[in-house]
Amino acid sequence: MELLDWKNLPFGYIKTDYNIRCKYKDGNWGKPEVSSSEYIDIHIAATGLHYGQEAFEGLKAYMGKDGKIRLFRWDENANRLILSAGGIKMAPVPAELFREALFQVINLNRKFVPPYGSGASLYIRPLLYGSGAEVGVKPASEYTFIVFVTPVGPYFREGIKPVNMMICRDVDRAAPLGTGIFKVGGNYAASLRALVTAKASGYASTIFLDAREKKYIDECGPANFFGIKENTYITPKSVSILNSITNKSLIDIAGSLGIKTERRPVPVEELSTFSEAGACGTAAVISPIGKIVDPEKNMIYEYCKDGKPGPVTMKLYNKLVAIQNGDAEDEFGWMTVVE
Ligand code: PLP
Ligand code: COI
Repeated sequence: MELLDWKNLPFGYIKTDYNIRCKYKDGNWGKPEVSSSEYIDIHIAATGLHYGQEAFEGLKAYMGKDGKIRLFRWDENANRLILSAGGIKMAPVPAELFREALFQVINLNRKFVPPYGSGASLYIRPLLYGSGAEVGVKPASEYTFIVFVTPVGPYFREGIKPVNMMICRDVDRAAPLGTGIFKVGGNYAASLRALVTAKASGYASTIFLDAREKKYIDECGPANFFGIKENTYITPKSVSILNSITNKSLIDIAGSLGIKTERRPVPVEELSTFSEAGACGTAAVISPIGKIVDPEKNMIYEYCKDGKPGPVTMKLYNKLVAIQNGDAEDEFGWMTVVE
């Protein structure tokens, strides 16, 4: 019998055998420890609970046809966690410790890596939080770093089928000089009011606009936005969005396929000029967008009118997924075999 129904996995939590934990105390990181518990013991005054000292990462490992497990751009996630830690004054996790914890947790949970061809992957969730006790508002002096894994299917249940999004004008996800560029829990908490409204109205997610002018596209829930126009891949440049590693990779892939790229502010009105639009991220991979609704402006932008993803979106998707699964040559040196 199969361990799990690999082809129908949700993007959700499934218990695996082990996770890795590591503590920072007296200015030093200790050794990573293996745990089989899904629970943590946490001080009631930990800054992670009260003052939002918490950041996380998300990356995936893929089983290749050759039986090798490949990790996508782990060093980029390691560096982003260092950036996020600095952004909310937490002790950074050294890249080498990040790598060691990742390899160990994947190796210990090899049986949970979805098989080649299932369309699923092993999602890896590194987590860093202030575990030291403080009551005054200040950074903790102790931190905990945890890495757990869970096998996942696509984030948007539709997979590579187009999803509909709603523009949100009454909630800001992040301020221009705030924490939008860091992957901290508070940004996700701030997005929930909008997300719940969008979901209740039948949309897959929310499109956030820049908080200052409400003029430009920021991002699509937990993913970056891109639009396609005349063989050009256009994606927002903004000081309040997460710098998606998937997006950065798609820009390189586009270049290799002869697709032009632009990273610049994208005004909302420009949505009417795109022939294709999509959301991209580790969890979302590429989710083509079928329709964007702007209820307050009474506007509807439609793409994929035949119900299928557009040709440029598909070219980018196919190459990204082929590299990740180990089917295409790793021409950019993004994949690391986990041994
Ligand atoms: N934007 C937000 C807010 C996210 O949570 C994510 C997911 O990590 C992304 C964008 C996509 O980033 P990445 O491609 O690095 O996963
Ligand atoms: C990811 O794509 O890894 C994310 O972090 C999205 C997640 C918040 C569901």
